[in-house]
Amino acid sequence: MSPDWLCRALSRAGVFAPAEAEAAIRAGRVSIGARVVRESLAPLPPGVVVRVDGREVDLARRTRVLAFHKPEGVVTSTVDREGRGTVFDRLAAVLPLALHGYGWHAVGRLDRNTTGLLLFTNDEQLVAHVTSPKTHLPKRYVAQVLGKVDEDKLARLRQGITLHDGPTRPAHAALRGPDIVELTLTEGRNHQVKRMLGEVGLPVTKLHREAVGGIVLDVPVGQARLLTDGEVREGLCFAPPQP
Ligand code: URA
Repeated sequence: MSPDWLCRALSRAGVFAPAEAEAAIRAGRVSIGARVVRESLAPLPPGVVVRVDGREVDLARRTRVLAFHKPEGVVTSTVDREGRGTVFDRLAAVLPLALHGYGWHAVGRLDRNTTGLLLFTNDEQLVAHVTSPKTHLPKRYVAQVLGKVDEDKLARLRQGITLHDGPTRPAHAALRGPDIVELTLTEGRNHQVKRMLGEVGLPVTKLHREAVGGIVLDVPVGQARLLTDGEVREGLCFAPPQP
């Protein structure tokens, strides 16, 4: 495994959020072994003792994952040029104090007008695992569409559709109501659900993500909860790497 950097290790371990970690390091509050270090990118040799304000901190890698219910209108990005807010603003507003120190990464993205399950984690390797096209973790969406849904269209979705960036993998597609389609994908390209449904003549008017792997959305809109280690292991098929 590549060596860790001081700033990244502090925020991954939940000691400081990334900006706070940088400020604390610049201010000379952090030491590696016996030496005060003022560079955020200082490498951390394995097994070294890190202190903040003279107190030893535990930098053991611990994968944390949050299930967040994304509301409509906010972007999955750290800044919103339209000023309507980001998922990070909304998450910070509901996060318990004990979880504020982590550097949170969104696991993939949902469009501004898409609602539903968005995962956050402190572990870049979990992001890579869940979003990798090779992992094939199912993501279940429910779409409200315009147009008539028929068996032919569902069969095309199930077989896979050729989009401008290549053929899609076969999907699970089912009718949930006269204009409601359930679509489960095992890949995650940009705007993929809207593009697939658009391609079969069913433009999407509303989109919601219900589940990622075995994690089913179970918190009210705008709220988040921490997943258990078992949910991460079994629901996301992810075993954190050993230090
Ligand atoms: N597919 C889309 O088209 N939009 C999303 O937000 C997620 C998947």
